[in-house]
Amino acid sequence: MQLGPHTLTPYRPEMPILTLAPMAGVGNWVFRLICARLGARMVGVEFINCRTIAERSRRAERLLDFCDAQIYDQTGISLLAAQIYGNDLDLIAEGAREFERRGAQVVDINFGCSVPQILRKGCGAAYLRDLDRLYRAVRQTVEAVSVPVTVKTRIGWDADQINILEVVRRVEDAGAVAIGIHARTVVQKYQGRADWDWIARAREASSIPVLGNGDVFCYADALRMQAHTGCQAVMVGRAAMGNPWIFAGRLGASLRERVELAVEQVRLMGQYKGERTGVLETRKHLSLYFKGLPRTSELRLRILRAETLAELAEVLEGRAESQAEEEEADLSLSAAEAAALGWGSTG
Ligand SMILES: Cc1cc2nc3c(=O)[nH]c(=O)nc-3n(C[C@H](O)[C@H](O)[C@H](O)COP(=O)(O)O)c2cc1C
Repeated sequence: MQLGPHTLTPYRPEMPILTLAPMAGVGNWVFRLICARLGARMVGVEFINCRTIAERSRRAERLLDFCDAQIYDQTGISLLAAQIYGNDLDLIAEGAREFERRGAQVVDINFGCSVPQILRKGCGAAYLRDLDRLYRAVRQTVEAVSVPVTVKTRIGWDADQINILEVVRRVEDAGAVAIGIHARTVVQKYQGRADWDWIARAREASSIPVLGNGDVFCYADALRMQAHTGCQAVMVGRAAMGNPWIFAGRLGASLRERVELAVEQVRLMGQYKGERTGVLETRKHLSLYFKGLPRTSELRLRILRAETLAELAEVLEGRAESQAEEEEADLSLSAAEAAALGWGSTG
């Protein structure tokens, strides 16, 4: 798949190209790096409001920490796609320039967020109701930066207003190099099933690559999505949170691998956000990494209660000793887990 100057290839030749979907509260550099190392060929950043970029607050600095991009540059293992959203086209273009300055290899514009407060301000998926404005936002951004610009969106506002084919045309005309499509409408949020038929139609109508997204809960689903739609890449969101090994084409990982990754993730998050926040933000991943074990509920509770890095490491390492270590566990996301992760989220 070509994205401007970048050629993306699958992690292994027989695999589809898999990418990490942008996820607020999840896609920090620690998790991005983990996914990239395991095979994600492009990694999405937590979305950033164009006004936040100009603030230069501590929070903004943290969101704008694209330190992993340098590693991708040097090794070629992945690409960092920094995502912007907002209602001011000048600020979006300016923010995109800042992304580029900070090393983002791709600028992605969010036209998919369905959170009411964001829609009310004319951001995210609100653009689906005004395709001229959507066109101008993409055009202006493309003109502002030299890195490739992509967009991520939904299939339309509601079942009666599915306009993804028109969106694809406008986005192409404006100069975007690829489009990520979460195959639900805005009003659906995370309800019902993602309708992959629309990804297939968009793929057929599009001259730029389509990244299919929605309801890929395990590697087999990624294969099914690609077979069903012909999309050039499969973008994985929630399933990656509990199973970053999905990017290597795997069902899950052995207990030893999970413990090792968990300890590393907690340590890096501790460095990045400080011990307390690092532990808090990593716990949701960890309880998914360790699901399905006997006495899981007890382990989960201990993980969820741990407040320090040392405590968490102790829980995890104690677990490794007490279990058969090498067997690969199935970490596929269940529909109920997916629904719980999607609730209230920003995509
Ligand atoms: C916690 C969470 C945060 C999200 N944040 C973003 C975001 O910042 N930008 C975006 O475009 N989509 C966001 N999304 C939507 C995902 O990128 C993706 O489109 C959606 O989860 C469907 O894919 P999945 O079924 O593979 O999870 C978010 C989703 C979740 C669960």
